[in-house]
Amino acid sequence: MKKTVLSGMRPTGKLHLGHLVGALNNWLKLQKEYQCFFMVADWHALMSEYKSPSGISNFAVDNVIDWLSCGIDPESSVIFVQSQVKEHLELYMVLSCLVPLGWLERCPTYKEQKKELKAKDISNYAFLGYPVLQAADILLYKADCVPVGEDQLPHLEICREIVRRFKSLYKKDVFVEPQALLTKVPRLLGIDGRKMSKSYDNTIALSDSPEMITKKVSSMFTDPKRIKRTDVGHPKQCNVYNYYEVFKPELKDEVYNWCTKAELGCTECKQKLAGILIEQLSPIQQKRAHFESHKDLVTDILRDGQKQAAEFAANTMKEVKEALGNGLL
Ligand code: TRP
Repeated sequence: MKKTVLSGMRPTGKLHLGHLVGALNNWLKLQKEYQCFFMVADWHALMSEYKSPSGISNFAVDNVIDWLSCGIDPESSVIFVQSQVKEHLELYMVLSCLVPLGWLERCPTYKEQKKELKAKDISNYAFLGYPVLQAADILLYKADCVPVGEDQLPHLEICREIVRRFKSLYKKDVFVEPQALLTKVPRLLGIDGRKMSKSYDNTIALSDSPEMITKKVSSMFTDPKRIKRTDVGHPKQCNVYNYYEVFKPELKDEVYNWCTKAELGCTECKQKLAGILIEQLSPIQQKRAHFESHKDLVTDILRDGQKQAAEFAANTMKEVKEALGNGLL
């Protein structure tokens, strides 16, 4: 029997190279080894996008198209939308009752996001419960493992504490304590050298056209100490070089030499990089074009995923209600 993995993404924008390197490439590996559930976390998106929520469903479909185009396989993995499986909110409610406020108020991601996301008003009631809904997502499918970035570790810890609390309250072993799968992912910054993020407008989207990719790459900052074409560069401090390391490691020694010996200028170096990115995204974009002109395929995949997820989730909810002594109808 394969172990189970659950992971999710919030549909708040188009997917970009950061998602590919940080999550999707890892998902592709996981789906071979595990029974995977890949979820569009649209309720989680609503928590921060509630002031203009109309884009969420479009991003949901758009993100799933990227997953499929990258090779996430609906034959082996369950691909579904959180809000289409009603049990997520039911379990969220049950868990909300047994989670002490302090666990959530102390959560470092909560404190950080409130400080950082000044543009969005997330001092709402739901946002405090973000990790509780995430725990419900994971526990409904009894996931053994959850691939997470370090930033999400506190959420997984809360999830594990919830499992223990549930067990100590109801003396029933309904849930599995999930393990974090901390995978080392390459570091990839945005085109301006800051963290790649939609809110910084510094991403290269998986669906960007070749022209757009060329334009964005040509605007990337390079080594600031290399002013003239004849100056030698310092690749270790250059974001463009980092992209070579991530996307074309077999070329990185060559690029290193070009740069440190001033054999190649930054403009040419970036043109080459743009070509590499365009080439690597091309097969993904071809599949994307196919799904975009056959949206019914995506609808079918999501309907099928919903069915499979809902069946599993309903079973778990039944066990949960039994554990609560059938105190709810
Ligand atoms: N919080 C995750 C993120 O922002 C998204 C998410 C929601 C998730 N539910 C999940 C991830 C369950 C893993 C498991 O990336």
